[in-house]
Amino acid sequence: MQKIEPSLSLILFILLVPYSDAKPINDKFFMDKMCGNESIIFDGDLRPGGWFQLTSSSKYQPNFSCSIKFRAAQPTQRFAVTVEKMNTVDCPKDRLLIYDSSTLLNKDIKQQCGILSTFSFTTATSQVTFTFTSGPGTKSNGFQVAIALHFPAVHTCPQALGFFLCGNKNCISKVLECDSHNHCGDGTDEYSCSTIGKK
Ligand SMILES: *[C@@H]1O[C@H](CO)[C@@H](O)[C@H](O)[C@H]1NC(C)=O
Ligand SMILES: *[C@@H]1O[C@H](CO)[C@@H](O)[C@H](O)[C@H]1NC(C)=O
Repeated sequence: MQKIEPSLSLILFILLVPYSDAKPINDKFFMDKMCGNESIIFDGDLRPGGWFQLTSSSKYQPNFSCSIKFRAAQPTQRFAVTVEKMNTVDCPKDRLLIYDSSTLLNKDIKQQCGILSTFSFTTATSQVTFTFTSGPGTKSNGFQVAIALHFPAVHTCPQALGFFLCGNKNCISKVLECDSHNHCGDGTDEYSCSTIGKK
């Protein structure tokens, strides 16, 4: 067996440690803390997905208006957008609009306000905008959205390269599997998960 020189171990240590530290982020954030931000970048290595709620408070503000825009790092990348919960009581004054570049995705008023469980979209462009406005009436907690980069240009979506092929053929990052959020849109990333020792 060959002995590893101390200097070589040091080189290996320097090479390997920063790499293992660079874990991709699947983070949570609050939309009302990022109003007006039009350049939230999603990137295959560092931020392949995340999830957000309208507000960190139990109720959003009256007469409120907020818009945020996500951009994919590569023009071939798309977004899988899943509204996991929708709870806006003052419908239609309180309203969420989701745009795929300039095309409105949630055209159906039932997907803009009121109370509805999961619905999802896959964008045709690499930019998605969320705009929320509220009227003066009674408020609730709003909505929760899971978002993931979808990689249509990755042929066969190989698991060995860190991808996960959803039942609906969206190709997302494997780090989003079994995190309790529906990043695929059809929930298939949350189907085969052990209840103990979540990934
Ligand atoms: C927008 O959000 C990104 C990602 O969190 C952040 O890095 C950037 O500084 C923000 N930009 C503005 C103008 O707030
Ligand atoms: C919201 O706007 C309405 C109409 O402009 C106004 O009457 C009401 O006082 C406002 N409410 C709050 C809490 O700002």
